[in-house]
Amino acid sequence: MAKSKSAYFCQSCGYESAKWLGKCPSCNEWNTFVEEIIEKSNAKVPSWKTSSGSQRLSKPTRVDNIQSIKEERLLTGDQELDRVLGGGLVAGSVILIGGEPGIGKSTLMLQLALNISGKKILYISGEESEQQIKMRAERITAVPTAECYILTETSTQNIFKQIETLEPHIVVVDSIQTLHSAHIDSTPGSVSQVRECTAELLRFAKETDTPVFLIGHITKDGTIAGPKILEHMVDTVLQFEGDRHHVYRILRSIKNRFGAAAEMGIYAMHGNGLRQVSNPSEILLSQRDEELTGIAISATLEGARPMLIETQALVSAAAYGTPQRSANGFDTKRMNMLLAVLEKRCGFRLSTRDVFLNIAGGIKVEDPAIDLAILVAIISSHEDIPVSSKICFAAEVGLSGEIRAVNRIEQRITEAEKLGFEKIFISNYNRKGLVVEKYKIELIAVRKIEGVFSILFG
Ligand code: TYD
Ligand code: MG
Repeated sequence: MAKSKSAYFCQSCGYESAKWLGKCPSCNEWNTFVEEIIEKSNAKVPSWKTSSGSQRLSKPTRVDNIQSIKEERLLTGDQELDRVLGGGLVAGSVILIGGEPGIGKSTLMLQLALNISGKKILYISGEESEQQIKMRAERITAVPTAECYILTETSTQNIFKQIETLEPHIVVVDSIQTLHSAHIDSTPGSVSQVRECTAELLRFAKETDTPVFLIGHITKDGTIAGPKILEHMVDTVLQFEGDRHHVYRILRSIKNRFGAAAEMGIYAMHGNGLRQVSNPSEILLSQRDEELTGIAISATLEGARPMLIETQALVSAAAYGTPQRSANGFDTKRMNMLLAVLEKRCGFRLSTRDVFLNIAGGIKVEDPAIDLAILVAIISSHEDIPVSSKICFAAEVGLSGEIRAVNRIEQRITEAEKLGFEKIFISNYNRKGLVVEKYKIELIAVRKIEGVFSILFG
């Protein structure tokens, strides 16, 4: 009997080596190499193979001679998902959805499978039994209308056999870590298995133009389990995140070959499945009647969608020698930088104060336009003077305390106006290109952070 071939794989980054190594030369992690059998000596037929030998010789083509085909987008009926995908599902695309256990990945996918009308969908589960899925389906929809088939199977060879007879329009795999291919001898979930199964599904998707959703587990540090190359192989990587104890869930696109990355969709998890949240500003602004200190509203953009988000700050005397700095939903380094700007440019003594920052709704914001609102919230708490809830902010703050312009200011202003705000603080540089008369909301253009404080706090 021929010997089966094995190699060592770094379980953290997928680096392959012929011999065992203590430290991975690629990601510098220690003790991550595990031996995996990469080829079964008796496996001959690849499980998804082109019928024609596919020996087409490619030639270089001038770019203006290449015919552009308008790619067709299939609308999934879930507007949040469609937007995150860049306007619908592209034929033959492979989409990886990552997220912590229990966040709702299976629910999201099953809901999608049950709601697309006029399409045949195959939902493959290696994690749950048919009964469990049926129970979940009954929870989500009273009468499932779609032609949705459930297959509980983990061997890719059998899966492809079933796919050939069923010919589904969309395939969902829950999860990629449970699949195993007969070509590889290592256990399901290992680097080489995950890579091989993804490659087989990828080939299937491209050759039959069938979109494939893959659910992926994530590790403790938040990356998708398995090799990083998994993310390189697929067309789109989506991350499903949120606090399990809150109702809101955020679907974020991390990589997208067919649309803008940094797009996001918001859902609320209810007893009967996930509900789309089409007006996020309403949930992100907390309801309050009286004016409170330490709160400022920012007009931010997530992807292409404007959102008004409440930033909350608490500044108090530090009880111990080293003041605490902690931020929820915002980069702590950036907060420290903004605090340094306050110290240096505006003369606030914050070095003996604890500063806590929180973005309402449990979401993470990376848009720099939130800077000004954060500074205003901090000073409002520090000085104990509330900011009117009819004012919002949209500007970045530079290291010398200058108020900088942000992108797509019109969209932000329009959203603020729509939600009934009366004033919006923007950068002087942003005002130049605007037709001020168009807006009912009052635009306050500022140059320097000191200017903002003297208007608000006198
Ligand atoms: P699930 O989709 O199984 O998560 P994942 O596949 O990401 O591990 O979601 C499980 C959680 O969602 C579970 O804690 C129960 C909750 N849930 C609801 O609140 N409402 C529902 O209608 C469903 C189906 C699940
Ligand atoms: Mg699941």
